[in-house]
Amino acid sequence: AFVVTENCIKCKYTDCVEVCPVDCFYEGPNFLVINPDECIDCALCEPECPAEAIYEEDDVPAGQEHFIELNAELSEEWPNITEQKDPLPDAAEWDGKEGKFELLEK
Ligand code: SF4
Ligand code: F3S
Repeated sequence: AFVVTENCIKCKYTDCVEVCPVDCFYEGPNFLVINPDECIDCALCEPECPAEAIYEEDDVPAGQEHFIELNAELSEEWPNITEQKDPLPDAAEWDGKEGKFELLEK
């Protein structure tokens, strides 16, 4: 399955949800996740993310492996999102910043 990683936090551009053929994105306050049981590995979302936050499970950057389990967990709790919306207000400012994991809201 594909996985949303740290750089989505506080950006949440949502371009990804528009292209997913199985609508398997789920939305929290400042982050999105993919339900790994629903993702069909089509890879369409990966190039759509302006923050380059989406990776195939086997290609998740070193140190971000915990996002694999996090996507699985939070996708069971958060509501489905299927249409693009405005990014978070300071998305451009937060894009690429390190250490955003501690700012994740659940
Ligand atoms: Fe959806 Fe395809 Fe991305 Fe999986 S890889 S989340 S099915 S767009
Ligand atoms: Fe997040 Fe990128 Fe989608 S920033 S909301 S994974 S387009």
